Amino acid sequence: MLLFTVFFGFDSSKKLFFNNPSDNDIELLIANMSIEEKVGQTCQITLDAIHKTDEKGQAIIPEQIDQAKLKEALEIFHVGSVLNVGWHTLTREEWASIMNDIHAPYLKKEQNIPLLYGIDAIHGVNYSVGGTLFPQEIGLAATWNTELARQMGEVTAYECRASGIPWNFSPVLDLGRQPLWSRHFETLGEDPVLASKMGLGLVEGYQGKSLPVDSLHVAACLKHFAGYSASFSGRDRTPAFIPEKYMQELYLPTFKAAVEKGALTLMINSGVVNGIPGHANYHLLTQTLKKDWGFKGFVVSDWEDFIMLHTVHRTAASLSEAAIQAFNAGVDMSMVPLSPQYKTYCQDMVRAVKEGKISMERLDDAVRRILYVKNKLGLFQNPMPDMGSYTKFGSDEFKSIARNAALESITLLKNEGGVLPLNEKQHILIAGPGANNINMLNGAWTHTWQGLDTSFNSYDAETVYRAVQRLFPTHGMVSYQKGVELFVENDFEASRYEDLKAYQKAVKKSDVVVLCLGELPSTEKPGDIRSLQLDEKQKELVRLAKSANKKVVLVLLEARPRIINDIEPLCDAIIQAYLPGDYGGEALALLLSGDADFSGRLPYTYPRYDGVIEFYDHPGSVARAKSGQFDAYNPQWDFGFGLSYHMGMINGVRFANKDEKKGAFDIEVNVSNPHNTTIAMVVPIYLRDLYASTTPENKRLIDFYKVSLRPGENKTLEFGFDVHALKRISADGKWRAEKGSFEIFCADQKLTFELFEDIIVE
Ligand code: BGC
Repeated sequence: MLLFTVFFGFDSSKKLFFNNPSDNDIELLIANMSIEEKVGQTCQITLDAIHKTDEKGQAIIPEQIDQAKLKEALEIFHVGSVLNVGWHTLTREEWASIMNDIHAPYLKKEQNIPLLYGIDAIHGVNYSVGGTLFPQEIGLAATWNTELARQMGEVTAYECRASGIPWNFSPVLDLGRQPLWSRHFETLGEDPVLASKMGLGLVEGYQGKSLPVDSLHVAACLKHFAGYSASFSGRDRTPAFIPEKYMQELYLPTFKAAVEKGALTLMINSGVVNGIPGHANYHLLTQTLKKDWGFKGFVVSDWEDFIMLHTVHRTAASLSEAAIQAFNAGVDMSMVPLSPQYKTYCQDMVRAVKEGKISMERLDDAVRRILYVKNKLGLFQNPMPDMGSYTKFGSDEFKSIARNAALESITLLKNEGGVLPLNEKQHILIAGPGANNINMLNGAWTHTWQGLDTSFNSYDAETVYRAVQRLFPTHGMVSYQKGVELFVENDFEASRYEDLKAYQKAVKKSDVVVLCLGELPSTEKPGDIRSLQLDEKQKELVRLAKSANKKVVLVLLEARPRIINDIEPLCDAIIQAYLPGDYGGEALALLLSGDADFSGRLPYTYPRYDGVIEFYDHPGSVARAKSGQFDAYNPQWDFGFGLSYHMGMINGVRFANKDEKKGAFDIEVNVSNPHNTTIAMVVPIYLRDLYASTTPENKRLIDFYKVSLRPGENKTLEFGFDVHALKRISADGKWRAEKGSFEIFCADQKLTFELFEDIIVE
């Protein structure tokens, strides 16, 4: 290192210090940095690389920074960023101690560039004890409430800052179009318009309305650019095949919208699309994202992903070649993230710059982007906020937002014979592996990575059983049986009956059986599955309850839609709860009792068969059956489907304006609430292009509102569209609104629109 320092004439005593650097100051900083310092900024290590360990290499609890390791990382390797948590949630005091330690060198002016700390706070601050836990993104999408998304982002940002953390690896903007995928629940569903609008809500909540980001907000990180979710096999980090047309129409719009909104960072797809690993994709990272879209922030790799270019994807013959490949493709910061690998990364990168394999221009570009983000986060002024001033952390105000999100997400899919709401006189059996289980309400990324460990659960979280017991206090006729135990065996989820006799006895005594079935928490590789079928033993609990002639209410706690076509007819009511978070138990109890109404709507098409995956925006051929007798598009439930106790009414749809030359139109939708209670309703607008040069979809969502209506209220909603609503990728590969007829739908109401000429749209 000494040699390098002398060679580049770098003198640490001449470090420049800026409290509030201008763009020029940032340039001065870059001009005064050694190659080692610049490379260090591109290196992200995990907390495990710098925390204290015992003689066996295990982290010492409570987690503490090892000063010697920190000094080495900062002074010798000039590391610019740290991520994550050890293996479980930390208290805010522990976070404060970590943050004090890692920022001390900057605050003492031993360093002139602040560290940037990042974490996965993907459904609230899931790594801070006492934080507010929301539904996972798939549930958030089911609310169709963009304002709730913003609020969830805002609370999460606040609680991140309250834990000393200014950067959140969220939102996931991958589309959920592969239900086998273990991270389906981390997405905002299958549709690009729904996911874009909800994603924008989250980004605004995280970052605030404008830049710079203040001390109540954090930098967002858009994940995982692009096509990660579309793995063909359904297994995590495996290849996807995405024709350019569908990349443009489906997988890129969520990211583009969030980049245009000013999102500061973006993380890369760990998989391979069309044969090119995400981390080696110059076209996407540099051409599309940075050049075409003008992204100003920085691109961070995913976990060990340049290493994977060598060890798994094999597009680089050595680790050093892999680092160069990723960097030159456009990855600005690499999550290396362990020791000693990060040291090798830094050394390899310095060598690559010296040998001209990475240009100084490219290195400066990456560093400029990283410093831009650090500056926009106010880290030069103060990397370490006064954590004591965040008095709303874990407050009732925040919890009630999370409870609302859970309430609005949970989706009623069936309610035959009005079995719901349950009535006070019924004897209720709450059963199934999810009935008295907090972890199954939350899913992965909750207190630990896989979310399975029960020892860190929030002290005040309530299971479905406990919440129903509390909220149905008058009769005390609520009992509980697990019936089936879920566990992990040989890497896959397995199940066994747990006291089936007791379950059957309890069934006999009950009037209605509420079965909470689903999956154990899991994500990424450990979450890979081999079939979408819901576990057989859990299904048997439904059969046993029905054969005892009981009313059956099925509550699904699942990370992805599991096939239930055989038990669906046996259930009187079915509720999709997704992964509703710490307040899911209470929300379910309120909905079951009728104290609250359902307003969630499916953010994906719920498949009926394991081998038939289809989407609501399918072309006509998907609906073509063997005989003309039926419609082959026959999912269990359609995208957007959901019931309420009190359904709102769509009375009429009309054009307020239409310009058939420009392809612009405004429509008004009249809605009303005929009930004597306040309701929330989702109003989606769909469009069908009748004929086009590329086979059009049956219909696709172009906008939606979620509106709240007082008893008896009548409201007219206004929607404005320009030519972008009509555009699709046409046969020549261009975005084009093609002349001809369009149909616009809202519920069963239809309007038609004629576009006179083709319009090319950029
Ligand atoms: C995941 C990312 C996450 C990162 C850091 C990776 O394994 O794919 O979504 O942000 O780890 O924890």
